[in-house]
Amino acid sequence: MATRLCIKIPAITLSCLPPPPFSSGVVNSYRQQPRRAVLGIGVSFLSQFMNMAAATGNLGAKSFIASARQKGSTVEKVLENVEWPQQFPFKEEDFQRFDESPDTVFYESPRFVTHIDDPAIAALTKYYSEVFPPSNTPGVALLDMCSSWVSHYPKGYKQSRIAGMGLNEEELKRNPVLTEYVVQDLNVNPKLPFEDNTFDVITNVVSVDYITKPIDVFKEMARILKPGGLAIMSFSNRCFWTKAISIWTSTGDSDHVMIVGSYFHYAGGFEPPKAVDISPNPGRTDPMYIVYSRKLAAV
Ligand SMILES: C[S@@+](CC[C@H](N)C(=O)[O-])C[C@H]1O[C@@H](n2cnc3c(N)ncnc32)[C@H](O)[C@@H]1O
Repeated sequence: MATRLCIKIPAITLSCLPPPPFSSGVVNSYRQQPRRAVLGIGVSFLSQFMNMAAATGNLGAKSFIASARQKGSTVEKVLENVEWPQQFPFKEEDFQRFDESPDTVFYESPRFVTHIDDPAIAALTKYYSEVFPPSNTPGVALLDMCSSWVSHYPKGYKQSRIAGMGLNEEELKRNPVLTEYVVQDLNVNPKLPFEDNTFDVITNVVSVDYITKPIDVFKEMARILKPGGLAIMSFSNRCFWTKAISIWTSTGDSDHVMIVGSYFHYAGGFEPPKAVDISPNPGRTDPMYIVYSRKLAAV
């Protein structure tokens, strides 16, 4: 069993649940998400989103907020009936990190650990087993972006092509599901080194928050997916805080769903993104969220 790479810092949450217990297997700075004080308890990023949209004259977001409130506040509702502002509402500083040193340095040493707890991993693997093409389907290819020594794919899952991308070669080399891998810093070079229309599925586990040029990367994802191909972004409420983008470290789970949904929307080439909450034991073990979309089918 791998060591879990996390420190749980009690977060300011919108609920009144007690903070989760400190976990065993503590290593270093992989921690549960704090919220930026300026947002205040009970004030969501969604309001900020609306204000940004209003400031740019894109008031479509207003009706989104209204509809989100009417329907409730679970993360699954966040991406329903969104009227996105015309322009991508985030600014350059939203993608800055506390630690702007090269990511290759931060990931230089392998970490043979897991970044979410066992129930969250099990929930993700189960989700994959429900949406992945059957194992050993001829012609099917998958890509695990921001991969490591584990991809959390179903036990025994195989395809003739499962590519991995990440920053640590030792980790990628040890990942049993990969048939090939590429070491590439996506924040330096967001161009994905694959042909157009190559992959049936792209996965990215607990790492979308480290991407500083998300629109470039998501455009590339649309390019290399086959028409109808599925992109699955999953995340919990932990991160390497110093390496995550500031808009992520300053907001909460629902906001993260919105942020990732916006990447799909503004990159273009995707169906409207959807969110699924696969948290196995809400409030007790690590939450787990999926934001997914399919590449638009060829016209
Ligand atoms: C928290 S780990 C998650 C690893 C793996 N997906 C998992 O579920 O265990 C973050 C991963 O993102 C990758 N990563 C971080 N910054 C990156 C960058 N700038 N370019 C490419 N990959 C990056 C690292 O290689 C690392 O494996």
